[in-house]
Amino acid sequence: MKDKLEQIKKDAMAQIAGAEALEALNEVKVAFLGKKGELTAVLKSMKDVAPEDRPKVGQLVNETRAEIEKIIEEAQKKMETIKREAQLRNEVIDVTLPAKKNAVGHRHPNTITQEEVERIFIGMGYEVVEGPEIETDYYNFEALNIPADHPAKDEQDTFYINGDYLLRTQTSGTQVHVMEKGKLPIRMIAPGRVFRSDEVDATHSPSFHQIEGLVIDKHITFADLKGTLAEFAKELYGEDIKVRFRPHHFNFTEPSAEMDVSCFKCGGSGCRFCKGTGWIEILGCGMVHPNVLRMSNIDPEEYTGFAFGVGLERIALLKYEIDDMRLLYENDVRFLNQF
Ligand code: DAH
Repeated sequence: MKDKLEQIKKDAMAQIAGAEALEALNEVKVAFLGKKGELTAVLKSMKDVAPEDRPKVGQLVNETRAEIEKIIEEAQKKMETIKREAQLRNEVIDVTLPAKKNAVGHRHPNTITQEEVERIFIGMGYEVVEGPEIETDYYNFEALNIPADHPAKDEQDTFYINGDYLLRTQTSGTQVHVMEKGKLPIRMIAPGRVFRSDEVDATHSPSFHQIEGLVIDKHITFADLKGTLAEFAKELYGEDIKVRFRPHHFNFTEPSAEMDVSCFKCGGSGCRFCKGTGWIEILGCGMVHPNVLRMSNIDPEEYTGFAFGVGLERIALLKYEIDDMRLLYENDVRFLNQF
């Protein structure tokens, strides 16, 4: 029996040494130690052993089993280490490989244009202020010399919230808020969102943006208005741009004008962009009406001023030669990616 066990141990050692992979090792384990394994078979044949020898033989079998187990375990550990090392070698991360690119956001063309306009006016000493989007009739109309029942109110179809409040139809009300503060002189621009009950099409939207401008000081004249706005146009569209002022009407300015810039596409000879005229309108402006000054407690005999209102989308569309305003609101990334 002792010899038989020695033989089993020898065979097991040989097979363990010959096992090249963990799977093969496992097979050896089953073959020798498993339920149907050789050692188990020996244990089963105990009934043939003389009763007085059984404890000794039993001990011998157990010792052999423990030894084989120990050797298999060691071999297993060794193989696992080798496997792990090979895996680490094969799965090395090359830190010099270029990284995956993350998509970064773009600034909206409206934002780019607004910041450009702000930069120009800040450079001329203007302050940038913000006015409320919800106004009363007083700020949006009355204090701007547009009395109740005046037809100018119809031109700007207004969203009323209730009898007292409305969504501002223009940023001009911010002029009033700034004048009411009583700090003079004033040099400000006020960019912001405005609302009108317009149908959406290529040139209209129920919500768009304006940039209001206001200058109030002693001895401000129309020449200051012209010089300032001509300089603004040059900064925005380039040195070669020409400007012209056409008489117009706004309730809150007298005299009033619209300013055109020479078409930067054709240089003024006439093209599809300027509808053949060579000129493109970009803003409304004028000398602040004495009634407007008076209502905000500024003495028109002492102070004068000019105001202007720019359509932000209009400037952005012209700057980027975009022919449909809806593109500015749809937030299609294929469009926005271009800026
Ligand atoms: N508020 C006018 C509009 O929405 C634009 C405007 C014109 C503003 C002349 C002004 C101005 O300050 O002087 O059509």
